[in-house]
Amino acid sequence: MDLMEYQAKELFAKHDVPVTLGTVVTTAEEAKAAAEQIGATVVVKAQVKAGGRGKAGGVKLAKTPDEAYEHASNILGMEIKGLTVNRVLIVPAAEIVEEYYFSFLLDRANRSYLTIASVEGGVEIEEVAKTNPDAVRQIPVDATTGVDEQKAREIVADAKFPLELADQAVGTILALWKVFVEEDATLVEVNPLARLAGDKLEALDGKVSLDENADFRHPEHAEFEDKAAADPLEAKAKEKGLNYVKLDGEVGIIGNGAGLVMSTLDVVAYAGESHGGVKPANFLDIGGGASAEVMANGLDVILNDPQVKSVFVNVFGGITACDAVANGIKGALELLGDNATKPLVVRLDGNKVEEGRAILDELNHPLVTQVDTMDGAADKAAELANA
Ligand SMILES: Nc1ncnc2c1ncn2[C@@H]1O[C@H](COP(=O)(O)OP(=O)(O)OP(=O)(O)O)[C@@H](O)[C@H]1O
Ligand SMILES: [Mg+2]
Repeated sequence: MDLMEYQAKELFAKHDVPVTLGTVVTTAEEAKAAAEQIGATVVVKAQVKAGGRGKAGGVKLAKTPDEAYEHASNILGMEIKGLTVNRVLIVPAAEIVEEYYFSFLLDRANRSYLTIASVEGGVEIEEVAKTNPDAVRQIPVDATTGVDEQKAREIVADAKFPLELADQAVGTILALWKVFVEEDATLVEVNPLARLAGDKLEALDGKVSLDENADFRHPEHAEFEDKAAADPLEAKAKEKGLNYVKLDGEVGIIGNGAGLVMSTLDVVAYAGESHGGVKPANFLDIGGGASAEVMANGLDVILNDPQVKSVFVNVFGGITACDAVANGIKGALELLGDNATKPLVVRLDGNKVEEGRAILDELNHPLVTQVDTMDGAADKAAELANA
């Protein structure tokens, strides 16, 4: 989960990274009031999960509360990289002397962590990396030893932070490392990490990506979720603990096991080429124990997608045998009753396949078609979606 700047800054403050929190508002009136409260020049900053907000006109200096009102009314509702701005952050304007770049990230390729640091800030870091790659330091961090004071000093020296800021930089780096580890982040980025008048270091911007696999350790992170921005179907699926991703096609997909579901998407996309170009409408892995309830929840989410025209249930019985899955489908159709309105193509194979197919044959539901092969079922589902 990616956080917005104001949320990242809350985590920074919690771990003593020097930062000014400011006030988050959703209307121009509130922006004006916040600027009055601060009583000095402020910066009005669009809060969206995208970089380059400044370049897009989403970061503006306001000398007076009326200017803050004006900028906020322009920025609120603006689109930045396809994202609508619903909130702005009002912070006191800082007196910037220099801008630096700093980040910790997960280096998947090297199965390690990485520090990227540059004192050539103020411009886009991607640009510096191209024109002056030596100025962007990449310093590996051993995942088992992490960042202690000695490592932080090494980073400060390597990136050539000004000597007079070295101690502050070490303290800030150690605090950012705490954010990275203790919050289970995969990215902590500060751009700019600014040198302010009076030689004070401060994080003027923040980007944090949290590792959702560690959510169970962080019930407090739930508040960061932008429920308004999430897809309503994905939100509903998440509520029910389903592994669902909305796509933009017409054939709803349910399968057991991520690998099988991925290949089902491919097979349906291929079959769709002969049926008016229909495509998969979603990814949904109901996992091992496909109980009637899980199947009903899955079908419920998929059938509520107005784009879905047909559903392909593709199950390979393993530990959960096909008879249990067939009973799950039967139970789900009973639970859904009149809410089940779209044709279902079911392909069962594997453990107890005969028993499973027999259960559905006996059910003889008008919406259910059984097809024995994956390719055949994909073709049937695509045909029904195109009907
Ligand atoms: N509190 C502040 N006071 C003065 N200037 C600021 C302040 N916050 C940001 N700025 C200026 O605005 C620029 C852009 O702001 P910021 O980095 O927060 O947004 P951004 O454009 O989205 O950045 P990125 O591309 O890194 O996401 C900064 O580089 C800095 O020069
Ligand atoms: Mg920035």
